Amino acid sequence: MAYVEFTAKDHVGTLTINRPEALNALNDEVIRQLDAVLDSIDCAQVRCVIVTGAGQKAFVAGADIAQMSALSKEEAQAFGKLGNDVFRKLETLGVPTIAAVNGFALGGGCELAMSCDIRLASEAAVFGQPEVGLGITPGFGGTQRMARLIGPGKAKELIYSARNIKAPEALACGLVQAVYPAEELMAQAEKLAGRIAGNAPIAVRACKKAINDGLQVDMDQAVEIEEQLFGSCFQSEDQKNAMAAFLEKRKHDPFIN
Ligand code: CAA
Repeated sequence: MAYVEFTAKDHVGTLTINRPEALNALNDEVIRQLDAVLDSIDCAQVRCVIVTGAGQKAFVAGADIAQMSALSKEEAQAFGKLGNDVFRKLETLGVPTIAAVNGFALGGGCELAMSCDIRLASEAAVFGQPEVGLGITPGFGGTQRMARLIGPGKAKELIYSARNIKAPEALACGLVQAVYPAEELMAQAEKLAGRIAGNAPIAVRACKKAINDGLQVDMDQAVEIEEQLFGSCFQSEDQKNAMAAFLEKRKHDPFIN
């Protein structure tokens, strides 16, 4: 059974969690398939990846509660590690990722969206970390990424209370970057992905690495990371072509690297 689908067109990939009968809930098979799909993405060809959920109702409604219900402590830690390893792989994928959140993004679903670089939501999207209502903590990085994305106070309010929020509140607190009518969401995600894919790929990738790696260290080290990546761009054809075109007052050729 294919629970994770991947298609690519015009340098933009679309990764779909496809288990709509369980609102795309993540069991270990789905997570392993996600892992394999991430490994298969050719970042020389694909310049941006959209992550979404199959069906009208859910992005991903969380980790699979039926599968988790009987786990031992050791099994639960292993399940958490599996999810964390795969979500970290998504977060550090060589190219930008956009979560197109088309419905419920709860628990592991909210954590999946937060592992993407950018989140766009449909007006029907619902976000939340309901885990304390199930007697557990978030398990796929939610406590860490939510606090970093929207600040510790708001993250603690949402996580301690298990309160779900709708798209407008997610926009207001910075959890998502834009909200669109449901029928426009994928077109808007593709438009943004196409715009990203139209820029110099080496430079875009370097920007992702600079932002992600720089956020892990202090400012002195962070600007050093940027210096190195800035310098590395000057080895690319795209830098030479684009700057020459500007100076010669002509339109530059499409980016190639
Ligand atoms: N795990 C397993 N199955 C799930 C699921 C989940 N997280 N979410 C939904 N489903 C299943 C339901 O059991 C149901 O299956 P059946 O048709 O076989 O009964 C089907 O999907 C449809 O769901 P509902 O009938 O519940 O749909 P609804 O419209 O009435 O409610 C919902 C939608 C509010 C999202 C509700 O399904 C819900 O609350 N789901 C659970 C959300 C949740 O608690 N997620 C966090 C999980 S814990 C976690 O993710 C831990 C972690 O960080 C790793």
